Amino acid sequence: MENINWADLTFGYLKTDYNVRSYYRNGQWSDLEISDSEFINLHIAATSLHYGQEAFEGLKAFKGKDGKIRIFRMRENALRMQASSRGIMMAEFPIELFEKAVVEVVKQNLRFVPPYESGASLYIRPLLIGTSAQVGVKPAKEYLFVVFVTPVGPYFKEGFKTTPVGIFREYDRAAPHGTGTIKVGGNYAASLVAGEIAHSKGYSAVLYLDAKEKKYIDECGPANFFGIKNNTYITPLSSSILPSITNKSLMQLAEDTGMTVERRPVPLEELATLEEAGMCGTAAVISPIQRVDDVDKNQSYIFSKDGKPGAVSEKLYNKLRAIQYGEEEDKYGWTTII
Ligand code: PLP
Ligand code: COI
Repeated sequence: MENINWADLTFGYLKTDYNVRSYYRNGQWSDLEISDSEFINLHIAATSLHYGQEAFEGLKAFKGKDGKIRIFRMRENALRMQASSRGIMMAEFPIELFEKAVVEVVKQNLRFVPPYESGASLYIRPLLIGTSAQVGVKPAKEYLFVVFVTPVGPYFKEGFKTTPVGIFREYDRAAPHGTGTIKVGGNYAASLVAGEIAHSKGYSAVLYLDAKEKKYIDECGPANFFGIKNNTYITPLSSSILPSITNKSLMQLAEDTGMTVERRPVPLEELATLEEAGMCGTAAVISPIQRVDDVDKNQSYIFSKDGKPGAVSEKLYNKLRAIQYGEEEDKYGWTTII
């Protein structure tokens, strides 16, 4: 293996040794297969290619100071992938088989789990696609589940530093009651144009407003949004955002530290009253927001004048990391030790 400079890893793809696959045929999922190929053989009329029958997940494994490897909340990802399957009429992948596949793919790639000191982690990417041919708009009869891993550094290259995000009112990522609550590729395709515009203007992500009224905050590129004020953790309730497992965890941790948690529609104007704001997700962990620019309205909401993360965001970040790395008691059983 070429020497990996763990500390310099970005959020990118690096080839690893093995991936794990299961095939759905004749109404049944096959036993897990281990593959050393990075490629799949796909029919040219597969529904995943034409009609977007594709869902994915993202989770991470961490090596602790104690040398143990912990996978974070994989059952939640298994459940969410089933919800995604129901949303776009794909065969549901069984929970236990999902967990077995995730554990197996980590075990098969132990040498790619970044060392504790590096700050990097092993990103686990399950994927489920329709593989059989349909030319009419209909669900496939056959599916492929595959899970691969790749070692990653921070999603936003700044890591735990504040960055600006932008509102671009001409773009929506998902419709109310559309596919925003499930993790399907189409949502990400729909976010690419606004995302590239945002990056070209120096923003780390797009802050989406609700598509119908443009009055409420939805989510933030590849992450959920949260705000802090008066010892309260506030995060949007919306019919077009992904139910983030990181956000769910942070809500619990906030409550545990004596904060109030509010999950409700968050009007845009409320940004002016927040003491801190951040993005959260598996890839993003907590990425504190420096300011939000409502680009078309020429208005800015500033959360950090000196560019430093807020104290509450930092506390929550440290608590979450401590559980993921096995340094704090995992009282909710969130981690699976390999
Ligand atoms: N929102 C979107 C659109 C995402 O892609 C992600 C990443 O998975 C999240 C939120 C955060 O979800 P989670 O914390 O489960 O990774
Ligand atoms: C994640 O946080 O796991 C994501 O899936 C976000 C992005 C890389 C799509």
